[in-house]
Amino acid sequence: MENVKIIGCGYAHGSKCVTNDDLGKIVETSDEWIRSRTGIEQRTVSETMNTSDLAIQAAKMAIEKSGIDKHKISLILVATCTPDHVTPSCACLVQEALGLNDDAVMAFDINAACSGFLYALQCAAKLLDQGVALVIGAETLSKILDWSDRNTCVLFGDGAGAVLMERSQDGSYMSFYARSKGDKEHALFCDGRSLQPHLKNVDDPKPYLHMNGREVFRFAIRSMPDAIEHVLGKESIDSIDMIIPHQANIRILEYVSRKLGFPMEKMFINLDRFGNTSAASVPLALGQAWEQKKIKENMNLILVGFGAGFTWSACRIHIEGGNHHDDQ
Ligand code: COA
Repeated sequence: MENVKIIGCGYAHGSKCVTNDDLGKIVETSDEWIRSRTGIEQRTVSETMNTSDLAIQAAKMAIEKSGIDKHKISLILVATCTPDHVTPSCACLVQEALGLNDDAVMAFDINAACSGFLYALQCAAKLLDQGVALVIGAETLSKILDWSDRNTCVLFGDGAGAVLMERSQDGSYMSFYARSKGDKEHALFCDGRSLQPHLKNVDDPKPYLHMNGREVFRFAIRSMPDAIEHVLGKESIDSIDMIIPHQANIRILEYVSRKLGFPMEKMFINLDRFGNTSAASVPLALGQAWEQKKIKENMNLILVGFGAGFTWSACRIHIEGGNHHDDQ
């Protein structure tokens, strides 16, 4: 358990809205198939902004909403599996764009696929001493999708979410659970660059995302309840006011809801509008819930995710009064 609290949230998403019908024009699919199998109605795709640009937009919104002096930021973590560059990290690009290059800041990226933001939140909670941590999940998955593969291109979108976290003295706290399990079957997988490409006389194949949907589905419905049960410990699910889950598929969430006896109405869901934005999915949903003033004082919520690796993670958040700097 860490005595930390979130003091501001922000989000960003791709500029172009792509509906299921739009996808039906480029691959053999239909609005009915996508909607009934996943709950997704549209997603946003970024045409000009790279991952760091979305991250910066979300970070600026979080800073503005919280009203903090940005120079209090001492740690920047960006969870992403679609960084702008192999190096430098998106986190360093965010630092520069926010004008924090002269501040005492540690900045780095984390890749734990769709669980990345929850991993980053846990790392920030452990690393943060004085000051404020800026924790971001940001992705431009559109650049690693094979837009002729209907198995994958209908599921994902581009976006970012950012939170500001500081040490709490008011009783607010967060507790975490995170696990991983190497998957040599590559159920969810995107190739990187080949070893020693200079020795080969062929171009690298394009690194597109591949997925065994049924295998991932099976993993998701085991791992999400597992992570939630671990952060609950002996506590009843009835004490949780809201779950903000990784936005992969409505059927996965309905299964989790049934398994845990947790009502769907208390899950915050925006996958119908944004699809699966991987590491951005949980903070994008959190940012919207925060903006809609659904995150209230004296509330208990759980963030939960799963992803390639395999990785899975949850965070239980207790909020004491007085967290909304932007409401004061
Ligand atoms: N449109 C139409 N048909 C499609 C399609 C699409 N976009 N994508 C796949 N299909 C076809 C497949 O080719 C397959 O056809 P076949 O049976 O002739 O081989 C068939 O639909 C598969 O159907 P079904 O098994 O009923 O699909 P499903 O109920 O397993 O749903 C997923 C498929 C991908 C939606 C589901 O498995 C899933 O959500 N998995 C988890 C994915 C996920 O969460 N990934 C991200 C993790 S972070």
